[in-house]
Amino acid sequence: MSDKLFEPVELGAIHLKNRVVMAPLTRSRAGDGDVTHDLHVEYYAQRAGAGLIIAEATQISPEGKGYIATPGIYSPAQIAGWKKVTEAVHSKGGKIVLQIWHVGRISHVNLQPNGQAPVSASAIRAEAMSHDGTDYVPASTPRALETSEMPRLVEEYRQAAVNAKEAGFDGIEIHAANGYLIEQFLRSGTNKRDDAYGGPVDNRLRLLREVMDAVLTVWDANRVGVRISPFSPGNGIGPDAESVELYEQVIDALEPLGLAYLHAIEGATGGGRDWPEGAMQALRKRFSGPYIANNGYDRDLAIRAVDSGEADAVAFGRPYISNPDLAERLAKNAPLNPPATENVYGGGAKGYTDYPKLAG
Ligand SMILES: Cc1cc2nc3c(=O)[nH]c(=O)nc-3n(C[C@H](O)[C@H](O)[C@H](O)COP(=O)(O)O)c2cc1C
Repeated sequence: MSDKLFEPVELGAIHLKNRVVMAPLTRSRAGDGDVTHDLHVEYYAQRAGAGLIIAEATQISPEGKGYIATPGIYSPAQIAGWKKVTEAVHSKGGKIVLQIWHVGRISHVNLQPNGQAPVSASAIRAEAMSHDGTDYVPASTPRALETSEMPRLVEEYRQAAVNAKEAGFDGIEIHAANGYLIEQFLRSGTNKRDDAYGGPVDNRLRLLREVMDAVLTVWDANRVGVRISPFSPGNGIGPDAESVELYEQVIDALEPLGLAYLHAIEGATGGGRDWPEGAMQALRKRFSGPYIANNGYDRDLAIRAVDSGEADAVAFGRPYISNPDLAERLAKNAPLNPPATENVYGGGAKGYTDYPKLAG
């Protein structure tokens, strides 16, 4: 085995000191106004040994929120809060991008402005859980976005990209995975529209294309990544017989943009590493730019993926919850702290910033 996983790489214009990436992890600890605070600064600074931190999914608007205490990137206080995080990560020699998020139908009326219905491609309720402000509850029935609202939605993505830049991030990652709004438009099971955003794949791709066009007026493409989950059933969506054909077209639409990276959750998010024989590998090969692999990787798998050229970097999710110095531990082949079972979502420092680093 070589040491390539621990060697630098360029993801577009983002220089990584190693190829161990911290996957985006919702931890539901934002304060009033969905603002990050000192605890987030400490948490992310502790993890600056990663080649790249992909900060947790962050909503572009109040409407884009689906869980309690997730941070936003649309208000001045949120931008100021994130600025402290990026400064702390940079001062420790780390890199950090922001995952830009709209949950679509994975929300609850109690979390929505004026108790309104969440929005989606079509008015189809998700067989999935959201949060009503007190507990996890079934998601509310959404309303379909009007065609006339789409420019407003795309503008919110663009403004979020502007705000992320102001907050000092090294780039942004568009969240097109895990059954949230963009994937709700992509999949035929959740998109029954008869306008230009529904019907053939080319139409269902329109929102993603428009979001990319909008954010690429703000950021150079070599600082923008996209996350997809072609074979994950998370949040009551896909995979289905159409997954391969759909994601071939998604990747073909992204390919010419010259993005910093494509980031794929390769199987069922947080579940098994299984997908139709060879399908993930074939999709990956359609993308000629840098590729971040994720889902169920351990040290050996990650070393193999990078050495074989299947991946340029590997993102670790759950291992980063309990190992703030995961990259350093993997490099030394040191033991990991046991996986987190408590205080994953919500609360304070306990289970968040109190995991020990290696001694010495
Ligand atoms: C607590 C928790 C929060 C997560 N939050 C996000 C998120 O904000 N955005 C996202 O794209 N994926 C999220 N995921 C999925 C992870 O990024 C990752 O895809 C998943 O944990 C599989 O990787 P792993 O096997 O290395 O943990 C989350 C997963 C967990 C366990």
